[in-house]
Amino acid sequence: MNVLGIETSCDETSAAIVSYKDNRFSVLSNIISSQIPIHQATGGVVPEVAAREHVKAILPVINAALWDSQTEWKDLDRIAVASGPGLITSLFVGTETAKTLSYLWKKPIYPVNHMEAHIAANFLSNKPIKYPALCLIVSGGHTEIVLMPQKGKYKLIGQTRDDAAGECFDKTAKIMGLPYPGGPEISKLAAKGKAAIDFPRPMLDSDNYDFSFSGLKTAVLYEEPNFKKYSKADIAKSIEDAIIDVLVDKTKRAAEEYKVKTVMLAGGVSANKSLREKFRKSFKNILIPGMEFTTDNAAMVAAAGAFTGKANNLFKVQADPNWEITPR
Ligand code: KG4
Ligand code: ZN
Repeated sequence: MNVLGIETSCDETSAAIVSYKDNRFSVLSNIISSQIPIHQATGGVVPEVAAREHVKAILPVINAALWDSQTEWKDLDRIAVASGPGLITSLFVGTETAKTLSYLWKKPIYPVNHMEAHIAANFLSNKPIKYPALCLIVSGGHTEIVLMPQKGKYKLIGQTRDDAAGECFDKTAKIMGLPYPGGPEISKLAAKGKAAIDFPRPMLDSDNYDFSFSGLKTAVLYEEPNFKKYSKADIAKSIEDAIIDVLVDKTKRAAEEYKVKTVMLAGGVSANKSLREKFRKSFKNILIPGMEFTTDNAAMVAAAGAFTGKANNLFKVQADPNWEITPR
C-alpha cells in the first residue's frame, strides 16, 4: 500500500510517500519545507503568516514528494492528512488540499490526529512493539503521556496544565536572548555546560501524570538579572535539566504503574540529545524516532494513515484544531 501523507498543522509544510507492505514501512520520500527563518523575525509563529506560507508551498511540496519517491499519483492507495490538533488556519491548507486531491484522483482520504502521527513516527523503524505500551509526546504545543493498551487504542493519562515542554524551551530561550525555536539552541549550549542554577522541577512529586511548565518559565525570568554570573551554557544546562528531570521521572512512574512492555518517545522535543540518552538509560524496551521524524513531518502522518481503519467521506472531513487523541 502506498500512502501520501500531508502535514501542515503548525509551521512546516510537509508531504511524504510511505509504502506499507508485509507489516513493514519504507519511507520513499519525506519533503519538509520549514518556515522557521520566516518566524524568526517575529520570535514565534504568527498563524496568519504560517497559513499563507503553507498555501504557497503545499503543491510544490506534494509534487516534490511524488518526484522524489518515483511514484505517480496513480500508484497511491490512500491520502492521509493531519487534520488536527494544530493552528486552524494552517490545518485548513493541508486538509482542503487533501480533500481536493482525493476528489480529483478518486483516492480515499484518511484524516489523522497529529499526536497519533507523532507516536506513529516510532512505527517507521519497523521494530516490534509489545503492548501495553506508553508514549511521552513532547512538542511545541503538547506534553502528553499516552497509554496504548493494544495497537491502535489510545488513552491519555497525563498532560500539561499550562505550557508544553517545547514551549518552555522556546520561551526560556527567548529570555536568554536566543533565536526561535529555542529548543535546539538550548540543547546545543547545554551540551557544553554544567548545571549551575537549581531551577524548580514543577509537579515532580504530584500524585498524577500531569505537568506544568509555566512556573519554570517564571523562575527563569526572575533569575534573569543574575545571568551575568553564569555562562550561557550553564544556564541552558540548568533549564534543560529541570525540564527533562520531570519528563523522565513521570514517564518512569507511569511505566511502572501500568506495567508497560514498550516505552516510546515522540514529538519535536524528542530531538533533544540529553532526553534521548536518559530515556535509553531508564527503559529496557525503548523506541525513539529517527531524528528526521521527531519534528513535524508527513512520513509520520502517512504511517498513522496506514493504520487508521476507515476512509472518510471527503465532504465530511474537517480541520479540527482541538482534536484530542481518544480511544477508537
Ligand atoms: O513536534 P514539533 O515539531 O511541533 C509541534 O507539533 O509543536 O515540536 C517543535 C518543538 C519546539 O518547541 C522546539 O523548540 C522543540 O520542539 N525542539 C527541541 C529540540 N528540537 C526541537 N527542544 C529541545 N531540544 C531539541 N533539540
Ligand atoms: Zn507536532
